[in-house]
Order: sequence, then C-alpha cells, then structure tokens
Amino acid sequence: MPESGKNPKRKLVVLSGAGISAESGLKTFRDSGGLWEGHRVEEVATPEAWAMNPKLVLKFYNERRRQLFEVDPNAGHLALVELENQFDVTIITQNVDNLHERAGSSDVLHLHGELDFARSSKDPELVYELKGKDIELGDQCELGSQLRPHIVWFGESVPAITRAAEIAESADILIVVGTSLAVYPAASLAFLGTGEMARYVVNLEVPDEEMFDDFEIIEGKASEVLPELVERLLSS
Ligand code: OAD
Repeated sequence: MPESGKNPKRKLVVLSGAGISAESGLKTFRDSGGLWEGHRVEEVATPEAWAMNPKLVLKFYNERRRQLFEVDPNAGHLALVELENQFDVTIITQNVDNLHERAGSSDVLHLHGELDFARSSKDPELVYELKGKDIELGDQCELGSQLRPHIVWFGESVPAITRAAEIAESADILIVVGTSLAVYPAASLAFLGTGEMARYVVNLEVPDEEMFDDFEIIEGKASEVLPELVERLLSS
C-alpha cells in the first residue's frame, strides 16, 4: 500500500537483546554463568579494564568480531525484515553484532555500539569501519590516539539513548525480544509511551510476568515464535 498523509504506515519499534542472536551461535551475557566467553565483564567491558589491560580488551573484542563473521542471521532476524512491508520499523538493539543489518533490516539503532567499528580513544566522534579487521595496540585515529572498540562499556554513558527514547515513545507497536532488561538505561525503553501502544515481549522464559502487565507475553525461541508473531501482525 502506498504511503500517504491520510494513511501512514504504523510505527513499529523492536527492542532487541542478545537472545535474538543466541540461535545464530552468539552467547548471551546472563545465561553464561556470569562469565562472558570465559571472562568477567569487569575484565573486558569497562573503561577500567581498558586502562589496566588494553591488550586483553582488544584481544577479547577481536575474537568477538571474528566470531561475528562465522555466524549468520537466523529466522528471528529475518522475520523482522518482513515487517517493513507494512510498518514503519525501527530496530533499537542492545546487541553489538550486525545480524539485523545482514538480515536486511534498514533502520537499526545500536545502543551499545558495534563490534565492526573502532573509534578514537580521544574523540568519540571519530569512528572507523573495520570490515572484520582486528584492532591492535598502536593502531591510531587521525589525531594520533589509540583506537578502541566502538562499544559502550559499563560505566559509560549511552549517547543514543535520547534518540532511542523519542523513537520508542512514538511507537504504535512495540516488540521487546531476547533481552533480560537488566541493563539501564536501555531497559527503560520498554516502558515508555502510552497505554495505546500494543506491546509484545518475546523471550525463552519471562521470569517476572508482573513486570509485563501491559504486554502480551510470548515464550519460546526467538527464531520460532518471532516469525509467528510477525505473520500475525502482517495479517492484522
Ligand atoms: P542478556 O544476556 O542479559 O539476556 C538475554 C535474554 O535473552 C534472556 O532474558 C534470555 O532468557 C533470552 N534468551 C536467550 N536465548 C533466547 C532465544 N533463543 N530466544 C529468545 N530469548 C532468548 O542480554 P541483554 O538483555 O541483551 O551491554 O543484555 C543487555 C546488555 O548487557 C548487553 O547489551 C550488554 C550486556 O552486558 C553492554 O555490552 C554494554
């Protein structure tokens, strides 16, 4: 259907987390016994870790980046692309992988940065695409500062949150998928907007159902239940 002033596409926002990429073979954070690929988060994903042991931090993210190119989007990522036929879709993701983009989603906002980019440790605006390359000690930005992963570490601010909140607030339909909602401010995005919004939560297991009073709760693997939800929304 063509877009017109009278009949604009409805706004559909997806807030995604590590669970949507789990079945592609990327480990989630909180399902791995408190360790992330064998490391405590404080060892590899904080500014303190970067100051203390930049070599280890670079090695950790270089390995994560290489792994990214060995995996593919799954049926969950692919289903979300179909929604664009009928809705004005924005995906706000906490994931640092690029599986939404590789599946074909056209509007993806990364809250916590992106594995395949580096940035200057001096000027956060200087961001460089890596295209799978490692970052090594000694690799510099154009100002001569060491490059670091383009990742929002624990304890750092989340620059994209203001834009993400505006987008989430404007949604007619919200799908929260594969996230424990344990990390703020990202988690707060699930609860913005008015009572008019249709809200769905998709997760392997929703432990705290009271938290999702205003949501339709859909339990199951994202790759199995998301395509069903998408089909339902497209025929609604
Ligand atoms: P978590 O690891 O905290 O949560 C993953 C969620 O996905 C859990 O609620 C699981 O139940 C669910 N899950 C697992 N497998 C699933 C599947 N196959 N289908 C559907 N759901 C599944 O990951 P996030 O909520 O994304 O931050 O974590 C948020 C942030 O904390 C991350 O962005 C990262 C992390 O530490 C930074 O790096 C700053």
